[in-house]
Amino acid sequence: MIGSLNIGTPKIMGRRDFGKKLVGGFALGKVFSDGLDRSIYQKLAAWDKQNVDQEAPDGAYWDFITNQYMFEPGLIMMNNGTAGAMPRVVFDILTEYFRIQAANPFKCYSTFDAYREEARVRAAQFIGALPEEVTLLRNTTEGLTIVAYGLDMKPGDEVLMSNLEHPSGIFPWKLREKRYGIKIKEVTINTPPRNKDEILTAIRDGITPRTKVILISHAVYKTGLITPLKEICQLAKDRGVLVCADGAHCIGMLNLNMRDLGVDFYANSGYKWLGAPTGTGIFYVKKELQKDLWPNIVEADWENPAVGALKYSYVGRIADPLPIALGEAIHFQTNIGKMRIERRIKTLAAYLKEEAAKISNVKVLTPNDPELSGGLTVLALEGMKNDQFANYMLEKYNLVIARTFNEKNAIRVCTHIFISFKQIDTLLEGLKAVYGKK
Ligand SMILES: Cc1ncc(COP(=O)(O)O)c(C=O)c1O
Repeated sequence: MIGSLNIGTPKIMGRRDFGKKLVGGFALGKVFSDGLDRSIYQKLAAWDKQNVDQEAPDGAYWDFITNQYMFEPGLIMMNNGTAGAMPRVVFDILTEYFRIQAANPFKCYSTFDAYREEARVRAAQFIGALPEEVTLLRNTTEGLTIVAYGLDMKPGDEVLMSNLEHPSGIFPWKLREKRYGIKIKEVTINTPPRNKDEILTAIRDGITPRTKVILISHAVYKTGLITPLKEICQLAKDRGVLVCADGAHCIGMLNLNMRDLGVDFYANSGYKWLGAPTGTGIFYVKKELQKDLWPNIVEADWENPAVGALKYSYVGRIADPLPIALGEAIHFQTNIGKMRIERRIKTLAAYLKEEAAKISNVKVLTPNDPELSGGLTVLALEGMKNDQFANYMLEKYNLVIARTFNEKNAIRVCTHIFISFKQIDTLLEGLKAVYGKK
């Protein structure tokens, strides 16, 4: 029950000790097993037994999932790409740990490291990485910035990026360009691209003998494209170039495995699709490259190889309940299943794209190919301005969408697991009412 969390006899363990413990990791589930009400997970397991492989149509299983969130009655949240929602069980963990800190700060500094470490190991497992390859940061920007400042490069060395990158990816490199004379080279990926090969050709053609690293969004925030990251990593590897992926949207949306992708650096925000609180992010650094990527802020034992990727999060004491709650968000998604989540998200998006394409003044900018698309769908609109339409949907239907920041008059729609086909129909109704006539 909430409020009865038993964190046991406080055992003082310094942060340094965790570097030593790290390689073996903690017994998963142990430190999370006490206390708060997790009957939701038993119920989920019961649903599992009743064959819920079907992602469509809506039904009791997905209603049950939606009910695990704390949305205001009537709110239709189709913009978790900007800020997502925590399931109740995650919120409860978050507030419970802040409560413990308020009630007994000793427990905070004597025990929270263990809970945080549990979350970190869980995150590694969730994304198919070794425990020593993952650390928890505040967000994607922080991870991308560590990569942009942390690699040794000479003036004239190049970073290759696409025309679709987010400012959080671009600007750390712009600063380095200005300060240290490295060069940014941009390649164009069409919207929408005709196929995967077109993207790979653009990147392949952009590589020069001076290219040291490629910055690429795994999910493009303004078009919804999912880039073929595995193939990009392969072609980069063949040419001795590193790949840094902006994965702000992808953990919690796609069924990911870092080792399978072959990516070198991967930065993510936990509060968009994963259902963790704001101020959380997952950062992956391939083990073999940790000797080549400098941290920006350090603590005493950062040079100890046993600390692995933890050295990138040595920033002094932080709000520990945040990463601890991220661990619970991972637990929540694991119980549903990464594969099922991806399928549900893509099934909803496919329906939206198919129906939106039938509306006369609406153009779908996100590819239909499920390999090149995910839960972000971008629609270009002809007629009413996108922000006016977003306001209209909010006022009339209490439905939240984002307008995109690209040159087109477009909106971005997120179809996460708490969204239903019925709610997509509500959006389509609004689109038809405004744009469906010549
Ligand atoms: C593709 C992409 N990269 C990076 C970011 C920055 O995320 P954060 O502010 O969590 O660091 C965003 C935020 O929306 C994004 O969409």
